[in-house]
Amino acid sequence: MAQHRPFLKPEEVGRSAASAVRGPIEKTGLIRSSVVRMAGYTPGEQPAETGVIKLNTNENPYPPSPLVARALREMDAARLRLYPDPLCKELHRRIAGMHGCSPEQVFIGNGSDEILSLATRAFVEDTGKIGYFVPSYSLYPVLAAARGAASAPVELGPRFEWTMPKGYSSDLFFLANPNAPTGMLFPKNIVKQFCRRHGGVVLIDEAYANFAEEDCMDLAVTLDNVIVSRTLSKAFSLAGLRVGYAVGPRALVEALFKIKDSYNVDALSQRLALAAVSDLAHMRRNARKIAATRRKLSAALAKLKFEVFPSQANFIWTRPSWISACDLFAELRRRKIFVRHFPGPRTGDYLRITIGTDHEVARLVAEIRNIMRGRTA
Ligand SMILES: Cc1ncc(COP(=O)(O)O)c(C=O)c1O
Repeated sequence: MAQHRPFLKPEEVGRSAASAVRGPIEKTGLIRSSVVRMAGYTPGEQPAETGVIKLNTNENPYPPSPLVARALREMDAARLRLYPDPLCKELHRRIAGMHGCSPEQVFIGNGSDEILSLATRAFVEDTGKIGYFVPSYSLYPVLAAARGAASAPVELGPRFEWTMPKGYSSDLFFLANPNAPTGMLFPKNIVKQFCRRHGGVVLIDEAYANFAEEDCMDLAVTLDNVIVSRTLSKAFSLAGLRVGYAVGPRALVEALFKIKDSYNVDALSQRLALAAVSDLAHMRRNARKIAATRRKLSAALAKLKFEVFPSQANFIWTRPSWISACDLFAELRRRKIFVRHFPGPRTGDYLRITIGTDHEVARLVAEIRNIMRGRTA
Protein backbone atom coordinates (compact mmCIF):
# COMPACT_ATOMS: atom_id res chain seq x y z
CA MET A 1 0.00 0.00 0.00
CA ALA A 2 1.37 3.39 -0.91
CA GLN A 3 2.48 5.47 1.99
CA HIS A 4 2.23 9.21 1.80
CA ARG A 5 4.91 10.66 4.05
CA PRO A 6 4.06 13.95 5.75
CA PHE A 7 5.72 17.03 4.34
CA LEU A 8 9.33 17.33 5.39
CA LYS A 9 11.06 20.51 6.44
CA PRO A 10 14.05 21.52 4.32
CA GLU A 11 16.50 20.41 7.00
CA GLU A 12 14.94 16.94 7.12
CA VAL A 13 15.56 16.07 3.49
CA GLY A 14 18.63 15.40 1.43
CA ARG A 15 20.53 13.81 4.30
CA SER A 16 22.92 11.62 2.40
CA ALA A 17 26.49 10.50 2.33
CA ALA A 18 27.55 13.94 1.11
CA SER A 19 28.36 15.25 4.55
CA ALA A 20 30.47 12.14 5.12
CA VAL A 21 32.37 12.93 1.92
CA ARG A 22 32.90 16.61 2.59
CA GLY A 23 32.65 16.78 6.36
CA PRO A 24 30.17 18.88 8.30
CA ILE A 25 30.00 22.61 7.59
CA GLU A 26 30.94 24.60 10.64
CA LYS A 27 28.25 26.87 12.01
CA THR A 28 29.96 30.18 11.34
CA GLY A 29 26.91 32.43 11.36
CA LEU A 30 27.76 33.34 7.78
CA ILE A 31 25.84 30.56 6.10
CA ARG A 32 22.04 30.21 5.90
CA SER A 33 20.99 27.78 8.61
CA SER A 34 19.09 25.56 6.14
CA VAL A 35 22.30 25.24 4.09
CA VAL A 36 24.29 24.35 7.19
CA ARG A 37 21.78 21.60 8.00
CA MET A 38 21.21 20.16 4.53
CA ALA A 39 23.36 17.50 2.86
CA GLY A 40 24.65 18.20 -0.63
CA TYR A 41 24.23 15.93 -3.64
CA THR A 42 26.54 12.94 -3.84
CA PRO A 43 27.62 12.43 -7.46
CA GLY A 44 28.84 9.06 -8.74
CA GLU A 45 32.56 8.45 -8.49
CA GLN A 46 34.78 9.63 -11.37
CA PRO A 47 37.87 7.45 -10.87
CA ALA A 48 41.29 8.92 -11.59
CA GLU A 49 42.81 5.47 -12.12
CA THR A 50 42.90 3.86 -15.58
CA GLY A 51 41.53 0.49 -16.64
CA VAL A 52 38.23 0.92 -14.84
CA ILE A 53 35.01 -0.36 -16.40
CA LYS A 54 32.81 2.53 -15.49
CA LEU A 55 29.15 1.56 -15.19
CA ASN A 56 28.22 3.93 -12.37
CA THR A 57 27.04 7.28 -13.77
CA ASN A 58 24.85 6.43 -16.76
CA GLU A 59 27.26 7.90 -19.29
CA ASN A 60 27.13 6.69 -22.88
CA PRO A 61 29.88 4.18 -23.76
CA TYR A 62 30.02 5.39 -27.38
CA PRO A 63 31.52 8.64 -28.64
CA PRO A 64 29.33 11.53 -29.81
CA SER A 65 28.61 12.21 -33.48
CA PRO A 66 31.66 12.86 -35.70
CA LEU A 67 30.01 16.23 -36.41
CA VAL A 68 30.80 17.18 -32.80
CA ALA A 69 34.50 16.30 -33.23
CA ARG A 70 34.58 18.31 -36.45
CA ALA A 71 32.91 21.35 -34.86
CA LEU A 72 35.43 21.14 -32.01
CA ARG A 73 38.36 21.10 -34.46
CA GLU A 74 36.92 24.04 -36.36
CA MET A 75 36.25 26.16 -33.29
CA ASP A 76 38.32 29.36 -33.43
CA ALA A 77 39.81 30.10 -30.01
CA ALA A 78 39.80 33.82 -30.84
CA ARG A 79 35.97 33.71 -30.80
CA LEU A 80 36.12 32.98 -27.09
CA ARG A 81 37.04 36.66 -26.60
CA LEU A 82 33.33 37.41 -27.09
CA TYR A 83 30.39 36.51 -24.87
CA PRO A 84 28.18 33.74 -26.23
CA ASP A 85 24.67 34.35 -27.57
CA PRO A 86 22.66 34.72 -24.32
CA LEU A 87 19.55 33.34 -26.04
CA CYS A 88 21.23 30.37 -27.84
CA LYS A 89 19.07 31.32 -30.83
CA GLU A 90 20.41 28.80 -33.35
CA LEU A 91 20.20 25.89 -30.94
CA HIS A 92 16.72 27.05 -29.95
CA ARG A 93 15.49 26.98 -33.50
CA ARG A 94 16.95 23.53 -34.09
CA ILE A 95 15.47 22.04 -30.91
CA ALA A 96 12.08 23.67 -31.57
CA GLY A 97 12.17 22.09 -35.05
CA MET A 98 12.99 18.69 -33.54
CA HIS A 99 9.92 18.81 -31.31
CA GLY A 100 7.50 20.71 -33.54
CA CYS A 101 7.09 23.69 -31.19
CA SER A 102 8.02 27.36 -31.38
CA PRO A 103 11.46 28.56 -30.18
CA GLU A 104 9.68 30.54 -27.42
CA GLN A 105 8.68 27.20 -25.90
CA VAL A 106 12.30 26.08 -25.55
CA PHE A 107 14.76 26.80 -22.75
CA ILE A 108 18.40 25.72 -22.88
CA GLY A 109 20.38 25.08 -19.73
CA ASN A 110 23.84 24.29 -18.46
CA GLY A 111 22.87 20.63 -18.18
CA SER A 112 19.30 19.69 -17.33
CA ASP A 113 20.30 19.96 -13.66
CA GLU A 114 20.40 23.74 -14.07
CA ILE A 115 16.84 23.70 -15.40
CA LEU A 116 15.64 21.67 -12.41
CA SER A 117 17.27 24.15 -10.08
CA LEU A 118 15.81 27.17 -11.89
CA ALA A 119 12.37 25.56 -11.70
CA THR A 120 12.56 25.48 -7.89
CA ARG A 121 13.18 29.24 -7.94
CA ALA A 122 10.66 30.12 -10.65
CA PHE A 123 7.62 28.05 -9.64
CA VAL A 124 7.72 27.66 -5.85
CA GLU A 125 6.82 30.31 -3.28
CA ASP A 126 8.87 30.45 -0.06
CA THR A 127 6.02 28.67 1.71
CA GLY A 128 5.55 26.22 -1.17
CA LYS A 129 6.12 22.48 -1.50
CA ILE A 130 8.30 20.51 -3.90
CA GLY A 131 7.24 16.96 -4.71
CA TYR A 132 9.00 13.92 -6.12
CA PHE A 133 8.85 10.15 -5.87
CA VAL A 134 10.96 8.08 -3.50
CA PRO A 135 13.11 6.58 -4.82
CA SER A 136 13.87 8.88 -7.71
CA TYR A 137 16.71 11.14 -8.82
CA SER A 138 18.50 11.94 -5.57
CA LEU A 139 19.10 15.55 -6.62
CA TYR A 140 15.41 16.51 -6.18
CA PRO A 141 15.38 16.61 -2.35
CA VAL A 142 18.70 18.46 -2.39
CA LEU A 143 17.25 21.13 -4.70
CA ALA A 144 14.19 21.47 -2.49
CA ALA A 145 16.37 21.91 0.59
CA ALA A 146 18.61 24.41 -1.21
CA ARG A 147 15.53 26.38 -2.22
CA GLY A 148 14.43 26.40 1.43
CA ALA A 149 11.06 24.90 0.48
CA ALA A 150 9.24 22.01 2.12
CA SER A 151 9.51 18.61 0.43
CA ALA A 152 6.41 16.57 -0.34
CA PRO A 153 7.84 13.13 -1.21
CA VAL A 154 5.62 10.29 -2.42
CA GLU A 155 6.74 6.70 -1.76
CA LEU A 156 6.51 4.48 -4.82
CA GLY A 157 4.85 1.08 -4.45
CA PRO A 158 6.71 -2.04 -3.29
CA ARG A 159 7.81 -2.81 -6.87
CA PHE A 160 8.63 0.83 -7.53
CA GLU A 161 5.37 1.31 -9.39
CA TRP A 162 3.29 4.49 -9.58
CA THR A 163 1.24 5.47 -6.54
CA MET A 164 -0.29 8.85 -5.79
CA PRO A 165 -2.22 9.64 -2.62
CA LYS A 166 -5.67 11.19 -3.03
CA GLY A 167 -5.68 14.94 -2.74
CA TYR A 168 -1.92 15.21 -3.13
CA SER A 169 -0.65 18.66 -3.98
CA SER A 170 2.65 20.45 -4.53
CA ASP A 171 3.75 23.62 -6.28
CA LEU A 172 6.29 21.73 -8.36
CA PHE A 173 6.48 17.99 -8.91
CA PHE A 174 9.67 16.44 -10.34
CA LEU A 175 8.70 13.35 -12.28
CA ALA A 176 11.61 11.39 -13.77
CA ASN A 177 10.29 9.22 -16.61
CA PRO A 178 11.86 6.72 -17.14
CA ASN A 179 12.50 6.89 -13.43
CA ALA A 180 15.98 6.81 -11.93
CA PRO A 181 17.42 4.73 -10.35
CA THR A 182 14.85 2.09 -11.36
CA GLY A 183 14.83 2.67 -15.14
CA MET A 184 11.10 1.93 -15.15
CA LEU A 185 8.75 3.88 -17.38
CA PHE A 186 5.51 5.19 -15.86
CA PRO A 187 2.64 4.62 -18.30
CA LYS A 188 1.79 7.74 -20.27
CA ASN A 189 -1.95 7.65 -19.60
CA ILE A 190 -1.29 7.75 -15.83
CA VAL A 191 1.23 10.58 -16.20
CA LYS A 192 -1.19 12.53 -18.35
CA GLN A 193 -4.04 12.10 -15.89
CA PHE A 194 -1.79 13.23 -13.04
CA CYS A 195 -0.63 16.32 -14.97
CA ARG A 196 -4.23 17.28 -15.77
CA ARG A 197 -5.27 17.08 -12.12
CA HIS A 198 -2.14 18.53 -10.52
CA GLY A 199 -2.53 22.15 -9.49
CA GLY A 200 1.18 23.01 -9.65
CA VAL A 201 3.85 22.65 -12.30
CA VAL A 202 4.87 19.13 -13.31
CA LEU A 203 8.44 18.93 -14.56
CA ILE A 204 8.78 15.64 -16.44
CA ASP A 205 12.49 14.87 -16.37
CA GLU A 206 13.10 12.86 -19.53
CA ALA A 207 16.87 12.50 -19.20
CA TYR A 208 16.52 8.89 -20.42
CA ALA A 209 13.60 9.21 -22.85
CA ASN A 210 15.76 8.54 -25.91
CA PHE A 211 16.19 4.95 -24.68
CA ALA A 212 12.45 4.45 -24.07
CA GLU A 213 9.55 3.34 -26.26
CA GLU A 214 7.32 6.25 -25.27
CA ASP A 215 7.72 9.85 -24.09
CA CYS A 216 5.57 12.72 -22.87
CA MET A 217 6.93 15.58 -24.97
CA ASP A 218 3.47 16.29 -26.41
CA LEU A 219 2.17 17.08 -22.91
CA ALA A 220 4.62 20.00 -22.71
CA VAL A 221 3.16 21.40 -25.90
CA THR A 222 -0.51 20.88 -25.01
CA LEU A 223 -0.86 21.37 -21.22
CA ASP A 224 -0.24 24.69 -19.49
CA ASN A 225 1.44 23.28 -16.36
CA VAL A 226 3.88 20.77 -17.88
CA ILE A 227 7.56 21.18 -18.71
CA VAL A 228 9.60 18.34 -20.20
CA SER A 229 13.37 18.44 -19.70
CA ARG A 230 15.90 16.53 -21.79
CA THR A 231 19.67 16.27 -21.72
CA LEU A 232 22.51 15.81 -24.17
CA SER A 233 24.45 13.98 -21.45
CA LYS A 234 23.04 10.50 -22.06
CA ALA A 235 21.84 9.46 -25.53
CA PHE A 236 23.92 12.19 -27.24
CA SER A 237 27.11 11.11 -25.37
CA LEU A 238 27.90 14.64 -24.13
CA ALA A 239 27.89 14.47 -20.32
CA GLY A 240 31.14 16.45 -20.28
CA LEU A 241 29.63 19.35 -22.20
CA ARG A 242 26.74 20.26 -19.86
CA VAL A 243 23.79 21.01 -22.12
CA GLY A 244 20.16 20.25 -21.36
CA TYR A 245 16.92 21.76 -22.57
CA ALA A 246 13.29 22.05 -21.65
CA VAL A 247 10.11 22.44 -23.65
CA GLY A 248 7.00 23.96 -22.10
CA PRO A 249 4.31 26.61 -22.22
CA ARG A 250 5.58 30.10 -23.12
CA ALA A 251 4.71 31.62 -19.76
CA LEU A 252 6.73 29.02 -17.83
CA VAL A 253 9.65 29.19 -20.24
CA GLU A 254 9.67 32.97 -19.97
CA ALA A 255 9.85 32.67 -16.17
CA LEU A 256 12.96 30.49 -16.48
CA PHE A 257 14.52 33.04 -18.83
CA LYS A 258 13.92 35.86 -16.35
CA ILE A 259 15.98 34.24 -13.62
CA LYS A 260 18.74 32.48 -15.56
CA ASP A 261 22.35 33.70 -15.57
CA SER A 262 22.97 36.00 -18.54
CA TYR A 263 25.28 33.58 -20.31
CA ASN A 264 24.31 30.23 -18.88
CA VAL A 265 25.40 28.19 -21.93
CA ASP A 266 28.95 28.90 -23.10
CA ALA A 267 29.93 29.40 -26.74
CA LEU A 268 31.68 26.04 -27.09
CA SER A 269 28.69 24.17 -25.67
CA GLN A 270 26.29 25.97 -28.02
CA ARG A 271 28.37 25.07 -31.08
CA LEU A 272 28.95 21.44 -30.14
CA ALA A 273 25.36 20.89 -29.02
CA LEU A 274 24.17 22.22 -32.36
CA ALA A 275 26.42 19.70 -34.12
CA ALA A 276 25.09 16.88 -31.94
CA VAL A 277 21.41 17.61 -32.54
CA SER A 278 22.15 17.90 -36.28
CA ASP A 279 22.96 14.16 -36.31
CA LEU A 280 19.97 12.47 -34.73
CA ALA A 281 20.68 9.30 -36.73
CA HIS A 282 23.97 8.83 -34.83
CA MET A 283 22.25 9.27 -31.46
CA ARG A 284 19.45 6.87 -32.37
CA ARG A 285 21.88 4.21 -33.62
CA ASN A 286 23.74 4.32 -30.28
CA ALA A 287 20.49 4.28 -28.30
CA ARG A 288 19.39 1.15 -30.22
CA LYS A 289 22.75 -0.54 -29.55
CA ILE A 290 22.43 0.27 -25.85
CA ALA A 291 18.87 -1.10 -25.75
CA ALA A 292 20.12 -4.34 -27.35
CA THR A 293 22.93 -4.67 -24.78
CA ARG A 294 20.40 -3.90 -22.04
CA ARG A 295 18.31 -6.88 -23.15
CA LYS A 296 21.38 -9.16 -23.13
CA LEU A 297 22.53 -7.99 -19.69
CA SER A 298 19.03 -8.34 -18.22
CA ALA A 299 18.79 -11.93 -19.50
CA ALA A 300 22.31 -12.81 -18.25
CA LEU A 301 21.62 -11.42 -14.77
CA ALA A 302 18.27 -13.20 -14.54
CA LYS A 303 20.16 -16.47 -15.24
CA LEU A 304 22.55 -15.60 -12.41
CA LYS A 305 19.61 -15.33 -9.99
CA PHE A 306 19.23 -11.56 -9.97
CA GLU A 307 15.86 -9.89 -9.83
CA VAL A 308 15.88 -7.55 -12.82
CA PHE A 309 13.39 -4.71 -13.28
CA PRO A 310 12.13 -3.81 -16.75
CA SER A 311 14.29 -0.91 -17.88
CA GLN A 312 13.58 1.71 -20.51
CA ALA A 313 16.79 3.60 -19.76
CA ASN A 314 20.54 3.14 -20.29
CA PHE A 315 20.90 1.33 -16.97
CA ILE A 316 19.23 -1.45 -15.10
CA TRP A 317 18.01 -1.80 -11.56
CA THR A 318 18.69 -5.20 -10.11
CA ARG A 319 18.80 -7.18 -6.85
CA PRO A 320 21.20 -10.09 -6.37
CA SER A 321 19.64 -12.96 -4.41
CA TRP A 322 22.82 -14.72 -3.21
CA ILE A 323 24.95 -11.81 -2.04
CA SER A 324 24.13 -8.42 -0.58
CA ALA A 325 24.15 -5.52 -3.04
CA CYS A 326 26.68 -3.78 -0.83
CA ASP A 327 29.11 -6.74 -0.88
CA LEU A 328 28.72 -7.24 -4.62
CA PHE A 329 29.38 -3.54 -5.18
CA ALA A 330 32.62 -3.85 -3.17
CA GLU A 331 33.68 -7.12 -4.89
CA LEU A 332 33.18 -5.58 -8.31
CA ARG A 333 34.99 -2.43 -7.28
CA ARG A 334 37.99 -4.53 -6.24
CA ARG A 335 37.93 -5.94 -9.79
CA LYS A 336 37.87 -2.39 -11.18
CA ILE A 337 34.24 -2.54 -12.25
CA PHE A 338 32.30 0.43 -10.89
CA VAL A 339 28.53 0.21 -10.53
CA ARG A 340 26.26 2.30 -8.29
CA HIS A 341 24.88 1.39 -4.89
CA PHE A 342 22.52 3.73 -3.05
CA PRO A 343 22.45 2.87 0.66
CA GLY A 344 19.08 3.36 2.34
CA PRO A 345 15.90 1.48 3.22
CA ARG A 346 14.31 1.56 -0.24
CA THR A 347 17.43 1.19 -2.36
CA GLY A 348 20.11 -0.57 -0.32
CA ASP A 349 19.30 -4.09 -1.62
CA TYR A 350 19.77 -3.10 -5.25
CA LEU A 351 22.45 -2.04 -7.70
CA ARG A 352 22.11 0.33 -10.61
CA ILE A 353 24.25 -0.78 -13.51
CA THR A 354 24.88 1.48 -16.50
CA ILE A 355 24.79 -0.26 -19.87
CA GLY A 356 28.29 -0.24 -21.31
CA THR A 357 29.59 -1.75 -24.54
CA ASP A 358 28.93 -5.44 -25.20
CA HIS A 359 32.54 -6.12 -24.24
CA GLU A 360 32.29 -4.26 -20.91
CA VAL A 361 29.04 -5.95 -20.05
CA ALA A 362 30.49 -9.39 -20.91
CA ARG A 363 33.40 -8.65 -18.50
CA LEU A 364 30.90 -7.64 -15.81
CA VAL A 365 28.90 -10.85 -16.24
CA ALA A 366 32.09 -12.98 -16.23
CA GLU A 367 33.26 -11.33 -12.98
CA ILE A 368 29.86 -11.80 -11.34
CA ARG A 369 30.00 -15.46 -12.31
CA ASN A 370 33.46 -15.73 -10.70
CA ILE A 371 32.24 -14.08 -7.52
CA MET A 372 29.23 -16.41 -7.46
CA ARG A 373 31.47 -19.48 -7.87
CA GLY A 374 33.73 -18.25 -5.08
CA ARG A 375 30.70 -17.98 -2.76
CA THR A 376 29.09 -21.30 -3.55
CA ALA A 377 32.29 -23.41 -3.88
C1 LIG B 1 16.88 11.70 -13.84
C2 LIG B 1 18.04 12.58 -14.18
N1 LIG B 1 17.80 13.85 -14.52
C3 LIG B 1 18.79 14.70 -14.83
C4 LIG B 1 20.11 14.29 -14.80
C5 LIG B 1 21.21 15.29 -15.07
O1 LIG B 1 21.39 15.52 -16.39
P1 LIG B 1 22.39 16.65 -16.88
O2 LIG B 1 23.70 15.98 -17.13
O3 LIG B 1 21.76 17.17 -18.12
O4 LIG B 1 22.48 17.71 -15.83
C6 LIG B 1 20.42 12.99 -14.46
C7 LIG B 1 21.82 12.56 -14.41
O5 LIG B 1 22.23 11.51 -14.07
C8 LIG B 1 19.36 12.10 -14.13
O6 LIG B 1 19.61 10.84 -13.76
